[in-house]
Amino acid sequence: MQLVMQLVALLLFCPLAVALSGAGRFWHITDLHWDPDYEAAAAAGQACPSGGSRAGPATGLWGSYLCDAPWRLLVSAAGAMRSRLPRPDFVLWTGDDTPHVPNEKLGEEKVLHIIEKLTSLIKETFPDTKVYAAMGNHDFHPKNQFPGKEHRIYNRTAELWRPWLNDTSVPLFRAGAFYSEKLPSPRTKGRMVVLNTNLYYDQNDKTAGEEDPGGQFQWLEETLTNASRTDEMVYIVGHIPPGFFEKKRGKPWFRSGFNERYLKIVQKHHSVIAAQFFGHHHTDSFRMFYSDTGSPINVMFLAPGVTPWKTTLPGVNNGANNPGIRVVDYDPDTLQVLDMVTYYLNLTHANMMAPTWEEEYRLREAFQVPDGSARSMQTVLERISKDPHYLQQYYEFNSVRYDLSPCKEDCRIDHVCAIREVDFTKYNECVKTSSSASAIINVWLLLFSLLLGLLSPQQVL
Ligand SMILES: *[C@@H]1O[C@H](CO)[C@@H](O)[C@H](O)[C@H]1NC(C)=O
Ligand SMILES: *[C@@H]1O[C@H](CO)[C@@H](O)[C@H](O)[C@H]1NC(C)=O
Ligand SMILES: *[C@@H]1O[C@H](CO)[C@@H](O)[C@H](O)[C@H]1NC(C)=O
Ligand SMILES: *[C@@H]1O[C@H](CO)[C@@H](O)[C@H](O)[C@H]1NC(C)=O
Ligand SMILES: [Zn+2]
Ligand SMILES: [Zn+2]
Repeated sequence: MQLVMQLVALLLFCPLAVALSGAGRFWHITDLHWDPDYEAAAAAGQACPSGGSRAGPATGLWGSYLCDAPWRLLVSAAGAMRSRLPRPDFVLWTGDDTPHVPNEKLGEEKVLHIIEKLTSLIKETFPDTKVYAAMGNHDFHPKNQFPGKEHRIYNRTAELWRPWLNDTSVPLFRAGAFYSEKLPSPRTKGRMVVLNTNLYYDQNDKTAGEEDPGGQFQWLEETLTNASRTDEMVYIVGHIPPGFFEKKRGKPWFRSGFNERYLKIVQKHHSVIAAQFFGHHHTDSFRMFYSDTGSPINVMFLAPGVTPWKTTLPGVNNGANNPGIRVVDYDPDTLQVLDMVTYYLNLTHANMMAPTWEEEYRLREAFQVPDGSARSMQTVLERISKDPHYLQQYYEFNSVRYDLSPCKEDCRIDHVCAIREVDFTKYNECVKTSSSASAIINVWLLLFSLLLGLLSPQQVL
């Protein structure tokens, strides 16, 4: 009897109930960054083109932490996806297909050729599956220079993605590379909103002086207003996220006015936004959104990249990652995120032995939360912020277990402030107050240890 009651309670109050009664699942992959010349360079004992001047000879069969992905690695990732979950409800693919090489080594045709090859790979991997694809800042020539109006590259990309796009999305895509569609499942009153946030990137000179490039903000507001009227929940999907890079203090991507406007829209329309899914960082993290009164109202999940490429961004220490791919479990009725499973390839191990994609972690289990709601992710943030065990665990996931070094106080501040504060001013305050708080604590600790005679003054100086 008691067992029955427990089971009933479990079914009623646990999100597992949804899992049992048919949770939906989808893949989120991002930042594949194919380096078409990797294999040839490796065979010739030369450095990979995407490694720049840092790299010694490219040696690994499955790739190198200094380089973008060889074709073999991408095929292996696709195979892992097919074997883990061959029939997802849909796939999110949030862009960045080309290698990190200078513009002069690419050109419009080469960029389009790379997008075409990756499109085919994904299509062959999931022949009958809807794919929601977003453009990344590297999926253009010259890179980052996306206009807020029609462009040949938008036209050609729309053609490549035509099998995945609704007819009504094609003209929209041609005009600015963003679109929105109803989700395919008949059970879901859900909508996917795919944005071109490359329009907001501070490296984009084409949109620098504009207030609302491509009219995307206005369109987004209208789309969200319509969703509220028709009782739909939406996922927002894009490549470059607002807010800050958690691996480099004070490094945002959006221009300040665009960052502010994005944040305002989420605050105003949060009740119809079930979650947001972005890429670009190549790291595994998330971003919180709060109401004016400070309640957590939304969460953005940043998925790790497939490329292992070590970033050249000055000030980032050892910024490579293991290749990662992710399954999201969700409730098809509400689009609530129930859980997330991240799989990864230990690239060192792959090159030494064999390429085995393993489960890295499950969100609920790793952080002891009931689901992936904004409230639960606020709990995750608090755990990371206060408990060194969770901080370290989060930190190892952040690079997909590439960097296992201890995340100390400065590292904690960088990550916690980036997760908590998407707003520029609030982020700066967060960094300032956390740093002075930790400085004060350090001074007290120092005085305390001096008093206790644990440290001699010579050591302090
Ligand atoms: C894009 O395609 C549309 C429809 O075929 C065409 O009218 C338009 O001129 C094209 N734009 C560019 C910039 O190529
Ligand atoms: C395309 O979108 C329209 C409007 O949302 C919808 O009525 C139609 O069923 C969609 N078509 C496909 C093939 O999904
Ligand atoms: C919002 O709904 C109205 C009325 O159905 C429609 O005319 C308009 O195109 C919709 N806006 C967007 C951005 O989808
Ligand atoms: C990855 O593989 C290497 C070589 O087998 C091993 O030394 C390392 O500990 C592995 N990393 C993780 C996170 O398991
Ligand atoms: Zn990227
Ligand atoms: Zn990017």
